[in-house]
Amino acid sequence: MKKITIAIDGFSSCGKSTMAKALARNIGYLYFDSGAMYRAVALYCMQNGIIANGEIDKEALRQQIDNIKITFCADAETKNSVTYLNGVNVENEIRTLEVSQLVSHVAALDFVRTALIDQQREMGKSKGIVMDGRDIGTTVFPDAELKIFVTASAEVRAKRRYDELIARGSTPDYNDILANVVERDHLDQTREISPLRKADDALLLDNSEMTVEGQLAWLEEQFKLRTAE
Ligand code: CDP
Repeated sequence: MKKITIAIDGFSSCGKSTMAKALARNIGYLYFDSGAMYRAVALYCMQNGIIANGEIDKEALRQQIDNIKITFCADAETKNSVTYLNGVNVENEIRTLEVSQLVSHVAALDFVRTALIDQQREMGKSKGIVMDGRDIGTTVFPDAELKIFVTASAEVRAKRRYDELIARGSTPDYNDILANVVERDHLDQTREISPLRKADDALLLDNSEMTVEGQLAWLEEQFKLRTAE
């Protein structure tokens, strides 16, 4: 069967990664989390003194951007994809609220996007991938054969992120998370370069009322339809 490219975009914390990961596993495709790459750049800034008075030192980041290498590797036990920043496993550190509060500012910088989009296209050049993010169907892979745009209400999304952080052992505040979800939606939709928007040829999926299993069944159906064409 011919291999295709699957782009899953949408609003923050709407469960894109969960469904993208499960779909990739079931159909034998590779999964790439483009948001994890922006998160890793944000973490790099925090770890390397590139933030001063809460502001990103853009010139310092511009000079160092080519030294930031992000890779994914499957965990030996769980088989889940793990994010590495310059060879170090940062999968947990990139999910904190501190990183979430910085990431959309980092992701709005043109030179950051250019560098990461190059890396993303390289990852997808042999097809047979599922990549999730904000601009995968519009900018990274505009020719992707299957594009999905996912959304859900801000409250549902904040609750999902809250539960995820609790499961990771943190003690988050629901209202802080809701505020972050709303702020990131705004920043992601209004930035100049590659703003978050549904590609004209993407299928819309509002999963506020859907179970994970229901979504996955729907997605697999779309995959079958697309690869049967
Ligand atoms: O998982 P969550 O929905 O919280 O977000 P994410 O996929 O981890 O992405 C984190 C942030 O990275 C987003 O809020 C965007 O600002 C940025 N991002 C982006 O600009 N372009 C992408 N392709 C993916 C993420």
